[in-house]
Amino acid sequence: MSRIPRPIVDQIREATDIVAVVSKHVRLERKGNTWLGLCPFHQERTPSFNVIPNKAMYYCFGCQAGGDCFRFLMQLEGLSFVEAVKELAQAAGIVIPERELTPEERKALRQRAQWFDAMDEAAAFYESVLWTRPEGEVARKYLEKRGLSPEMAQKARVGFAPSGWSTLFDQLRRMGFDANLLHEVGLVRQRKEGQGYYDTFRDRLLFPIRDEKGRVIAFGGRILEGDGPKYINTPETQFYQKSQVLYGLDLARAGIQQKNRVLVVEGYFDVLSLHQAGFTEAVASCGTALTVEHLEKIRRFTENVIVLLDADAAGTRAAEKVLPLALRAGLQPWRLQLPGAKDPDELIREHGVEAMESALQQKVPLLEWTIDRRLESRGHNAVGRQKTLEELIPDIRDLPASVWSSVASRLHMPESSVVEQIRRYVPPQPPDEGADNEWQEPIPVTHSWRPQRDVVHLIWLLVHHHARVADILHRIDPTFLEDHAPVRSAIARLAAGEPVAALLPEISDAEVAKTLKAVVARAELYTEEQAAVGMCEVLERILAPRRELRLNEQLRRMEEALRTGDLPAHRAAGQEKSQLMAVKKAIKAALQKKDVVAYLAALEADVAQK
Ligand code: UTP
Ligand code: MN
Repeated sequence: MSRIPRPIVDQIREATDIVAVVSKHVRLERKGNTWLGLCPFHQERTPSFNVIPNKAMYYCFGCQAGGDCFRFLMQLEGLSFVEAVKELAQAAGIVIPERELTPEERKALRQRAQWFDAMDEAAAFYESVLWTRPEGEVARKYLEKRGLSPEMAQKARVGFAPSGWSTLFDQLRRMGFDANLLHEVGLVRQRKEGQGYYDTFRDRLLFPIRDEKGRVIAFGGRILEGDGPKYINTPETQFYQKSQVLYGLDLARAGIQQKNRVLVVEGYFDVLSLHQAGFTEAVASCGTALTVEHLEKIRRFTENVIVLLDADAAGTRAAEKVLPLALRAGLQPWRLQLPGAKDPDELIREHGVEAMESALQQKVPLLEWTIDRRLESRGHNAVGRQKTLEELIPDIRDLPASVWSSVASRLHMPESSVVEQIRRYVPPQPPDEGADNEWQEPIPVTHSWRPQRDVVHLIWLLVHHHARVADILHRIDPTFLEDHAPVRSAIARLAAGEPVAALLPEISDAEVAKTLKAVVARAELYTEEQAAVGMCEVLERILAPRRELRLNEQLRRMEEALRTGDLPAHRAAGQEKSQLMAVKKAIKAALQKKDVVAYLAALEADVAQK
């Protein structure tokens, strides 16, 4: 529904003064074409945060944060993309056109509104029972015993489900909600025999689980006395998927932003105790292990994720599962283990806020912890280190080079050897049952793209001197330039004149996106006058090695033909060789004279041979 058409987004970006937007949060000083300030996304004393108005982007050389005006608000205020676009649309006086909805969409929208209404009314009902009814007394006492203040409990909308079989059901039916809907949202269950429904939650303390916008989407209910499971939760529904939801995220958004870290714990009580004690960056996964979806949600707010884990075998297993997911999501995962308490709620209650503070000081990078633990069991000698590296490679091979170097240093291995082994690594192939020949082609080693200097320079030229260099690029076959498809497509789109700020949100390859951002803020490489010649030189540095390969191939064919006495083949290869030599000579001469036209002519002769 809330998809905003791309042209509108582009229009809003163009109408927005990014310097003005950033200036509301960061003191900027002008320095030539860019504005400079202290980065709001990491701690620093000398400014490395750049705003580049003519590219409508910002970039920090210190922490590599970067993007357009929308990204800035998303990163700083934790807004979603749509929220950021809407906010800036308003500021720019641009109206986002509402698309006519289809009847199905309208129906779905109405249903959705009712869905959220029912949950909200249920939460309000449970709250009123807790705070105003005699039945709530037992729960109020319990909260007091657990040391949770009424203010905190009310902020989290904690409630109490009374013990009848249909108190909630009757109440919401009186308000006009459809019985079927109440069943769909998981508030009531269908009777096994006969007809009708009964309340899902009876005689339980209720924690409403809210999405990050604060809408109630589920409940977790804790038993207070008697027999039964400790917690029961709303079954999964269209709007509540455990693998996606983090309890407390709506309350924690501001805290996470402010402290630039998130504390992931296990229980509802833990989250509320932590918030009450001032750790407003705490969230919990609702009784499940952390998933990629959880981590991706977190990454919208911060890269620092502190995962609280038990010291036991289960905690260790959980740590090993989280590590690759977090690394792949581009996060910096930390491992936190509490001394002398089973969970943060207990720690704070028994040893106070300071105990939690000092526990947090003891957090360790999960990657280093994992490496150390494996070295412990495999031995610190060369064999143990090698084995540990081999185990890690599948998890880190697609990650940025910075991760590789921290692995290398933790393992006390030369970085070059780590990089070499990662490059050589071939992932195991799933057994191909349909294959009828047992001789399989070796699969090519795939690894993530790492920015090469010449390609980065080429992108720089396209971003900063498009008018001077784009035409040159149109003359050559892009397949000659780059193997990595996302880079090739980015180059093609920049060459076609797409502004880098508009292109960036659509780039999913993290390394490519990073390179584009860095290029925008990168200092002048060529002046405008040098740009065209510079482009030819850059292209040549990329193309020359490939031409050399082709030349060698012809020489090899000539030798082969001599050996077998195949004179026509010798002549054919010889001709190609001389043509290539001629091209080389022409190109060299053109570049020496800094003659762009001559260079392109020579290049065309070259490409024609292929
Ligand atoms: P805990 O057993 O650690 O409970 O489960 P807790 O939240 O610390 O509660 P107190 O302090 O004993 O009162 C941690 C989380 O696991 C999920 C809940 O989300 C709970 O908060 N859980 C636990 C369930 O979903 N069902 C259960 O039966 C138990
Ligand atoms: Mn607990």
